Amino acid sequence: MAIRINGRDVDAPADARISLLDLLREQLHLTGTKVGCNQGACGACTVLIDGERVLSCLTLAAQADGREVTTIEGLGSGEDPHPLQAAFIAHDGFQCGYCTPGQICAAAAMLREIELGVPSYVTVDLARPAPLSREEIRERMSGNLCRCGAHNGIIDAILEVAQGTCA
Ligand code: FES
Ligand code: FES
Repeated sequence: MAIRINGRDVDAPADARISLLDLLREQLHLTGTKVGCNQGACGACTVLIDGERVLSCLTLAAQADGREVTTIEGLGSGEDPHPLQAAFIAHDGFQCGYCTPGQICAAAAMLREIELGVPSYVTVDLARPAPLSREEIRERMSGNLCRCGAHNGIIDAILEVAQGTCA
């Protein structure tokens, strides 16, 4: 089977031990996905598989066999940015930008989780859809670290997109 990456079929790697992160960056040169800790602690390598966020450093490429992977390159481009990309720019949601692709992929999946009614650790009423509060977004984005301290801008950007007010 092939792995579908940003709408393109790619052969699953011959080496069954290669991580999805290494497949993306080293073999396919999709360097938008970043290597931070390479051990599951920072979220810089976050991509989507079938719309759900995964840490690509902890995911074998083989696990994406027959599935659909979306990286930051597949979400938007300079000419046609994803609403989250536009909002991150508008709200100074990045400084060095190293964590940004992972933050944006995580945010895209997180908004879908809220839409689907998936609760978080801080959701008080499990019988109702979680409110789009800063606390909810902060908790749901807690797996993505920003060493530059752009977290407040990131929350503002996500909140704006979640509320559908992004230009
Ligand atoms: S590089 Fe994957 S979590 Fe840090
Ligand atoms: S913008 Fe520098 S690590 Fe987040």
